Amino acid sequence: MASQDELKRQAGWKAAEYVESGMKLGLGTGSTAAFAVERIGQLLKEGTLKDIVGVPTSIRTYEQAQGLGIPLATLDEVSDLDLAIDGADEVDPDLNVVKGRGGALLREKMVELASKKFVCIVDESKLVEGLGGSKDAMPVEIVQFCWKYNLERLQSLPELAGCEAKLRMAGDKPYVTDNSNYIVDLYFQTPIKDAKAAAAAMSELTGVVDHGLFLDMVDVVIIAAADGVQVKEK
Ligand code: A5P
Repeated sequence: MASQDELKRQAGWKAAEYVESGMKLGLGTGSTAAFAVERIGQLLKEGTLKDIVGVPTSIRTYEQAQGLGIPLATLDEVSDLDLAIDGADEVDPDLNVVKGRGGALLREKMVELASKKFVCIVDESKLVEGLGGSKDAMPVEIVQFCWKYNLERLQSLPELAGCEAKLRMAGDKPYVTDNSNYIVDLYFQTPIKDAKAAAAAMSELTGVVDHGLFLDMVDVVIIAAADGVQVKEK
């Protein structure tokens, strides 16, 4: 049976088939996206792809893509991207996703909103009936200033009823994002009832920079499973 890494590779390579020469590309973050970035680097090197510009969604991806010789830019330089490819932590039946367990949610959301098409790549373990349903973290990026105050405000939002909020740690210090912010991870016992209302309520809190609910953003989901790779389109 294929390992989870092999499934991630299959999803990443399938996504690279969506890339055409001349495209401006959003390059995602995480272990699945890394396979897509690696494949794009290979295709460029062998000359199958030409004139690609990549906009990385994290310092990690910047370093990987730079190492592979992929020409890079920022959204300040190229803002109308043709395609973004990225992983996800949860995918629901309507192709709404949770992202950010790798900590890159803010740059990911900015880059993916700037892309005409967003292709999400996952292995089958990421599929859920409702967002929050994996019982694993739903990340929220917050400013460092008075983080406890914002953590408590998040936890007491009626739209997030029943969640447990924890400051993400890196060893004995708070985890710090590429944007010098903190992350609060929200844990749910049951899926979020109304993800749109939850997203709106979080966005309204001053001091919340962004959250890991990516709603109505994904155009294509590539799911690598033991019995093959499946493509779902919006
Ligand atoms: C990074 O911040 C995340 O949004 C990742 O895209 C997401 O966590 C999926 O990562 P993996 O592909 O490593 O599971």
